[in-house]
Parts: sequence; structure tokens; C-alpha cells
Amino acid sequence: MPVINMESAWNNIERVGYLDIEIDPALDIFQEIERLKKEKNAIILAHYYQEPDIQDVADYIGDSLGLAQQAEKTTADMIVFAGVHFMAETAKILNPTKKVLLPDLKAGCSLADSAPADLFSAFKKQHPDHIVISYINCSAEIKALSDIICTSGNAEKIIESVPVDQPIIFAPDKNLGAFLNKKTGRNMVLWNGACMVHEIFSLEKITRLKVRHPNAKLIAHPECEDPLLRIADFIGSTTQLLKYTQQDNANEYIVATETGILHQMQKASPEKTFIPAPPDNSCACNDCPHMKLNTLEKLYLCMKYEKPEILMDENLRLAAKKPIDRMLEISRAAGLVG
Ligand code: 13P
Ligand code: SF4
Repeated sequence: MPVINMESAWNNIERVGYLDIEIDPALDIFQEIERLKKEKNAIILAHYYQEPDIQDVADYIGDSLGLAQQAEKTTADMIVFAGVHFMAETAKILNPTKKVLLPDLKAGCSLADSAPADLFSAFKKQHPDHIVISYINCSAEIKALSDIICTSGNAEKIIESVPVDQPIIFAPDKNLGAFLNKKTGRNMVLWNGACMVHEIFSLEKITRLKVRHPNAKLIAHPECEDPLLRIADFIGSTTQLLKYTQQDNANEYIVATETGILHQMQKASPEKTFIPAPPDNSCACNDCPHMKLNTLEKLYLCMKYEKPEILMDENLRLAAKKPIDRMLEISRAAGLVG
């Protein structure tokens, strides 16, 4: 039940994750968000997995690489991050003078959670001659223990920038790591983490869908497991998947990633058909429960009251920034970001 009492909403924010305040049902939230953007010189950065309404009010929608780059270069005073915690944290690491807000502090990530810093630090000590490349889907503590960060959009280029005889630990996603080992011919040591959303696609149901839609192409995110990736026609980050559907000449796609991306695919190619790949449960499509904790109402409330805010210890921020800066440098040199 939403509360009207401001004091108790304020006191409960850590426990609840957001300001649980009732909104006047007559309020035009879309209009209010636009007004607040101007009043506060705020920018809304949204990931493709956000609900369509949030994507529609965003100033920039992108994959993790694009979002990190936007967070680095924005001149806005306030960054409202419609995504999950590690993404907002990355924005704060890159731009500490800005106020960074996350509509729901509990919007975490199963993949980031699969690498606790103390266990990872012990693992790293077992491989003293290895450098660490970490996928951006990890906590600031893991970033601080890493040499270079990567995203699914630049991972190959990041790995190729490391001399072939240099041993590498790749964390936290074992599926992306295995995919990259295959692609680059490296033998990176993999941390045993995974994304709950990309691991539960049903190969059996997808195979049946392919029979029913013989002309549909299967496109997949590299966080999916190997058997699915083996039968995919194209593998890429969310931005790469979106671009592929715009440039490719097929008319039907089975999309093996979180369903939020279908909103932009359908907008960009209204004449094409996009079928969400089914998971191994009773649902027809696959939503990330963390991403979907953010709602338009929570986004509006966090802009209005400037809470919940991402705050970080300065020493941790500086240590976590180094490998992200390295990633952005390599990406710039490779022409992957402007
Ligand atoms: P990208 O958008 O960078 O491909 O990442 C997907 C993802 O799982 C984000 O949590
Ligand atoms: Fe994390 Fe997976 Fe959700 Fe992305 S889709 S935020 S990797 S749990």
C-alpha cells in the first residue's frame, strides 16, 4: 500500500527501495516528467529492458556501453538512470559531480550478485599471474578488483587488446566468457556466474517455434547458454541485435533476450514480426524481474524528490573508475564509441 506520510516514506526508503508515496491519479506523469527534466536539468538514460513507457520518456536508450558513454559525457546536473543498480553505479563512478538517481534501489542483477567481492578476491589470489577482465554487470567492488571492464558490445576488442600470452580471468558471466573463448581462441579462466534471464530460455520450445516459423531468424544475446548460441543466426549486445534487425532483410525474428528490446525493434521496423523466445517456465516471454522493478511512477517520484540517490565511497569510486576508463579508451581506439 502506498503511504501519504512523507516522513515515513523518507524513513522507509532503504527498506522499500523507493519513495512509497501516493500520486494524484489525475496527474499527467508524462508531462510532469518533461517539466522536471527542464526544471532540474536532468537527463533520463534508459536500458532497452525497461518497460515501454519508460523508454518513451528517456533522452537516451542504449546498451551498457552506450549508456556508460552517455553517462560520462552528459552536461546535465542530474542523471536519472532507468536501469539496474550496477548501471547507475557506473554512471556515478564516471561522473561523480552529478546527482545520480535510480527509481528503485532494489533493482539489482542476478549476474552481478553471482560475484561477491570477498570470494572473487580469494579466487583472484589463486591466479596471481592473470589479469582480470570483468563484464560491466558487476558491483563497484568487483570493478575495483579488475584490470579492464568490457560489455557485450566491445568484449572481443577488449580481449584482443591483451597480448595472447597474457593469462586472463573473465568474470562474472561464464556463458559470455565461454562464447568469447570460442570467438577469440583464448583460454580465459571463467568465474561461475550467470544471468537468470538468459539462462532459462527453453531450447525445446525455441526449436518448435523455428519449425512453426521456418523463415524466422533466431537472434540471441551472448549471455545465453552455448546450445542456444550454437543455433542462433546472429549473436550480439542489445544495440547490435536492434541494428541487425534494421539492416537484415528477413521479416521475422525470434528474439532470445529480455523482452523490453522488442519495443524498439518494433518501432524501428513496424512491418516486421518479432517473437520473444520462450523461457523454460509457464510464461510466454522473458522479463528481467530486476529491470522491471522500475516503473514510470517510481521514475517520476525519484525525479521530483531526488531520491533514491547513488552515493559511493571516493576510494572505491577511484579504484573502480580505472578499468572503466581503460575500457572506454580501447573502445574509442577501436571506433566503437564516439
Ligand atoms: P547489453 O545491453 O549491454 O547487451 O547488456 C544486456 C544486459 O543483460 C544488461 O543487463
Ligand atoms: Fe542482470 Fe540478467 Fe537482468 Fe541484465 S537481464 S540486469 S544481466 S539479471
